[in-house]
This record gives sequence, structure tokens and C-alpha cells, in this order.
Amino acid sequence: MTTFSQLMGTQTLLPIIQADTVEQGLDIAKAMADSGLKVVEVVLRSDASLEALRAIKQQHPDLLVGAGTVLDTQMLQQALDAGADFIVTPAITDALLKAVKACEVPGLPGVSTPADIALARENGFHEMKLFPASLAGGIPFLKAVSSVFRDVVFCPTGGINANNRCDYLALPNVIGVGGTWVAQKEWVEAGEWHKITDACKAVL
Ligand code: 3PG
Repeated sequence: MTTFSQLMGTQTLLPIIQADTVEQGLDIAKAMADSGLKVVEVVLRSDASLEALRAIKQQHPDLLVGAGTVLDTQMLQQALDAGADFIVTPAITDALLKAVKACEVPGLPGVSTPADIALARENGFHEMKLFPASLAGGIPFLKAVSSVFRDVVFCPTGGINANNRCDYLALPNVIGVGGTWVAQKEWVEAGEWHKITDACKAVL
């Protein structure tokens, strides 16, 4: 089975699409795809998110579109039904870990403590999202756990931006970073799609 890092390939940013409407999701996805990025995450945080994910996949067959903010097994099933290419969770439960592990698409479980890492690892995961990265200890935390969990790598998300992303990416146990800074709410509200494309281009 493909792992999350294999799916990302050389891409080191996982850009997050927060869409209040399907049209908004499509516009954001187009702006991101125009930059050359190949993998995006639609967070399931609005009534339109699942439909937006479906529509993005239809309009951009070349994009790999993951579902984020998957909180439980019901949301997981909805994300899979919508065609999610991978699954990202902000946190873990034993049931969610087992269900994500059983999926045919890669999963990136969200952890924030050494106990979370141990539980996710026990369920067969070696690639995890650190969330919320800046509040969960950020770079010092990632350095501290690197010698303990030597077979685990992370995609930190939450508080990552254009200024600190390279510091995270310089760590050997970081495979990529996720964030919303490349699709800021005010740009979306103003329809300034080129700003999203430019911000995404800046990380390539
Ligand atoms: C996530 O879902 O991973 C976070 O909401 C992203 O956090 P950010 O807005 O600080 O990038």
C-alpha cells in the first residue's frame, strides 16, 4: 500500500483547503493546481466540504485530494465515499486508528504527545501529523522525540507559515508541513486567487 510520503513525492507542503461553498473549494483548488502542486487536503469543517472534495476530484483528475479533520469512523466513511485519496486526522482514538489502518488509502493520524505517538505506532503507523504543531512543542518536541521514536516521521501542521516552514523541514524526522497560510481567508473572501497560486509557488 502507498504511504502518505510516497503519495507526496517531492512535495513538502500539504496545502489546506477550507471551503464554505463548493465554488469556493473549486476556486481554491484551481489556484493551488495552477502553482504546480499535486497534493491538497480538503478539511471537513463546513457543510459544503464533502461536496467540495467530490467536485475538486472531478474537475482536477490529476490532483490527489485528501480529506482532513476526520474525527471519527463516520466521517472517515463519508470521506472515502466522496473519493478521498488519503485521510488526515487531527487526533486519534483507538477505533479511528484501526479504521484508518484498514482503509485502502494512506492515512496520517494526528498526534500531539509521546503517548499518542506510541498508540499510533502500535497500530502500525510510522507517518503522523503533529497537531497543533506550534502548541504541541514545535521543533523542540520533534527533536526530543526523534531519538525515542526512531522509526516515526511527521508532517507538522498548525502554526506553520512561510517564515518557519524551512526550520521544520530541516529536521530529519519531518517529511513535510501542512498549513492554511497559502490560502488565507481574506484572499479567499476577496477572490484574490492569484495570491494563493503565488504563495503555493513560493514553496515549490
Ligand atoms: C489543520 O487542520 O491542520 C490546521 O487547522 C492548520 O493550521 P494552520 O491554520 O495554523 O495552518
